[in-house]
Amino acid sequence: LNNGLAQTPQMGWNSWNFFACNINETVIKETADALISTGLADLGYVYLNIDDCWSNTTRNSEGQLVPDPKNFPSGIKSLADYVHAKGLKLGIYSDAGAFTCEVRPGSLFHETDDAESFASWGVDYLKYDNCFNLGIKPKKRYPPMRDALNATGRTIFYSLCEWGEDDPALWAGRVGNSWRTTGDINDSWASMTTIADLNDKWAAYAGPGGWNDPDMLEVGNGGMTYQEYRAHFSIWALMKAPLLVGCDVRNMTAETYEILTNREIIAVNQDSLGVQGRKVNVTGTDGCLQVWAGPLSGHRLVVALWNRCSKGAIITALWETLGLESGTSVAIRDLWQHKNVTGNAVSSFSAYVDAHDCLVYIFTPLTLSQSAI
Ligand code: DGJ
Repeated sequence: LNNGLAQTPQMGWNSWNFFACNINETVIKETADALISTGLADLGYVYLNIDDCWSNTTRNSEGQLVPDPKNFPSGIKSLADYVHAKGLKLGIYSDAGAFTCEVRPGSLFHETDDAESFASWGVDYLKYDNCFNLGIKPKKRYPPMRDALNATGRTIFYSLCEWGEDDPALWAGRVGNSWRTTGDINDSWASMTTIADLNDKWAAYAGPGGWNDPDMLEVGNGGMTYQEYRAHFSIWALMKAPLLVGCDVRNMTAETYEILTNREIIAVNQDSLGVQGRKVNVTGTDGCLQVWAGPLSGHRLVVALWNRCSKGAIITALWETLGLESGTSVAIRDLWQHKNVTGNAVSSFSAYVDAHDCLVYIFTPLTLSQSAI
């Protein structure tokens, strides 16, 4: 969507994956505090997004949405003021249907009123869900909220959550700043890998202004191993997915913190070229030894060796699968070890990768004069 936002994928936090409906203004404020004190905000995680269950179960007498008086007694405007004072941005949630998935009022046919409420509260981001949609096609239901947000005069990030219905990559570039390509993620290896493959199909349609959204991060929620979470974060970054943290950032383990704060991986996601990397080669049983790669600015490449087999193995990236001319000499940087790899790779690169782990590198092709030095 051409509203000036999403020049790189959005980064931030969302309440759903960890808290579901157990949210209130204290949790949101403490999360804002934690985004600052942990340094996550400085790394770019600036959107603090409230998901379903913030709203009262009915509209007020003027037909407007109102926050749940028990859990959000101070109102959304006061929360927005709180997070803005910390340099963060506030996101909210509604639904392109009669109700939200948790049966709060939906915004279908109330687009103008609700967009005006969000803008008047100082909201910076809207996630717009797909429950109770009355069987109306997403192509019909999502544009009216785009227009209503635009008409408020406030610049609001517009995140479509239509679960991949009707292949949004093909039409949502003109509607939203990101669109979901799949159903909901859950905190498991099976869900994460399935979603990665589904999202990969749409790589050609992502770019500055509009991104494929394979759903929010589960890193730190306990259902996957360290290696699996590292793979999850690596592949989401390479796929130019939104990096929306979904754990309790007030209580992160050292491993969770290490993954989410990997600056070199974040830089891949936020690279100015904005091209979604993709699966470029598979070998091994059922294709479980995988190479994912994509171009970065400055003629560089990001290359991920992802072992989805149940045992450790060597994975090889061949220059021909990366689109590099054979004989090209590259400098290689390991983004998890934070080290330059020594040796002179000129036609392929191999490394041992633990089961379910993912190693990520940046390849910088060297000019002839540089490689001769
Ligand atoms: C379905 C969405 O896909 C989820 O991300 C979450 O927003 C829930 N609905 C909330 O009800």
